[in-house]
Amino acid sequence: MSERHLLVLDAGTTSTRAMLYAPDGARVATAQADLTQYYPRPGWVEHDAAEIWEQTLDCARKMVAQAGGADRIAAIGITNQRETVVAWSRRTGAPLARAIVWQDRRTADHCDRLQAAGHEAQIQQRTGLILDPYFSAAKMRWLIDHAPEVAAAGPDLALGTVESWLMWKLTGGLHVSDASNASRTQLMKLDGQGWDAELCALFGVPQAALPEIVDNAGLFGTTVAELLGGRIALCGLAGDQQAATIGQGCLAAGSVKATLGTGAFILAPTGNALPRSAHRLLGTVLCQMGGQRHYALEGSVFVAGSLIQWLRDRLGLIATAAETDVIARSVPDNGGVFLLPALSGLGAPHWRPEATGRITGLTHGSGRAHIVRAALESIAHQVHDLAMAFAADGAPWRALRIDGGMSANDWIAQDMADMLGLPVERPADVETTARGAAMLAGVGVGLFPTLEAAATMIPGRMRFDPTMMPAMRTQRLKGWRTLLDAAAVT
Ligand code: G3P
Repeated sequence: MSERHLLVLDAGTTSTRAMLYAPDGARVATAQADLTQYYPRPGWVEHDAAEIWEQTLDCARKMVAQAGGADRIAAIGITNQRETVVAWSRRTGAPLARAIVWQDRRTADHCDRLQAAGHEAQIQQRTGLILDPYFSAAKMRWLIDHAPEVAAAGPDLALGTVESWLMWKLTGGLHVSDASNASRTQLMKLDGQGWDAELCALFGVPQAALPEIVDNAGLFGTTVAELLGGRIALCGLAGDQQAATIGQGCLAAGSVKATLGTGAFILAPTGNALPRSAHRLLGTVLCQMGGQRHYALEGSVFVAGSLIQWLRDRLGLIATAAETDVIARSVPDNGGVFLLPALSGLGAPHWRPEATGRITGLTHGSGRAHIVRAALESIAHQVHDLAMAFAADGAPWRALRIDGGMSANDWIAQDMADMLGLPVERPADVETTARGAAMLAGVGVGLFPTLEAAATMIPGRMRFDPTMMPAMRTQRLKGWRTLLDAAAVT
């Protein structure tokens, strides 16, 4: 390899990956490790932050070897599952408790109390976020109240989201978070520069334990030389959904993307305009470059790819995710079966942390294929609910760009086009999250002057146009609505 490459570290919810990109956008190598999921109680989800770090380092080392050494890497970009909270010791650099994952609902009571005390409107106005256990602030407070080593840490305590944890480990003690990740904590005003003192006080999170908020691209630091066989510049940082938005080339208002990963996350850029929702969508930072903020309106669906894992690992209905395409096509329709995938409560636009999943319409005629098909159909239905909310907020979609592992399923891509009644576009490489982080690192290290210029790294797209008969679409939408009504989540 003659040219220097961009190395992306993608610390996701269910796996840790490292990918090597050529500056022309070619993905030349990938390393991956599955991350252990801990479910200590119903509604609780935890990760071992030490495992995230060890897997990241191991995957990074493989990619550096593949590139031919640290001096063959122009820069590193980091992207991560958002909202997940890590607490560690500044002295030892070791985690003080298991990380609380974004899906975890243990702080629902705390959020209820804040809501009952009338704080929701103020929190939404400042942060763009709904009062829900999804976000980091209440999780941080929970650790301080319930994890003995966190409670005892005092000034030794460092708190952060996953990119912050990895930056600390890679640099040997730099405590930073980028604006896109910081905007998910509920502790930063959408247009405010540092942490918001009143929000920190409201949630009981000590500001001294939090990282410094930085841009999404720039020279943030270098890796400790011994880790990867040389010092490598760390130049890109972003939450995975913001990175995917960038990697899809959704840089201007009017574009919209849906990443079908563990969950399904839809972001529509609003440029420099602060996003405001009257329909339970989120306002979030898309990226900050040179101190200048760009924003997005977001709809967060908590269960997408994890539903397929659940069908495979818990129900044993399928052997592989890939076979769901064939199984869905093996029946002409869902046979009246509908599935509400509220396995981690329901996110946007319902925000019902206590909701649980359900399957309705079962008869003697229902078989495995109907249930699998209903599960796949639930993805398009959730995205359609969000399309309605975006339109009601004055941000209608003209087409939807999809990405993420589950988007490789042609049946799902077509079903989404059919239910939305819109073209759905899918890039040749669906690993858009990592590509966005590579673009940010490329800008940060000076390979590209702007993200628009870095968009030359994005491959071509395939298009799915709606083909479903209107009567079938109406019947599907009616069935889904009945399911939501029965679950009282409308
Ligand atoms: O907000 C949670 C999100 O960042 C998780 O992303 O890709 O693991 O579904 P993913």
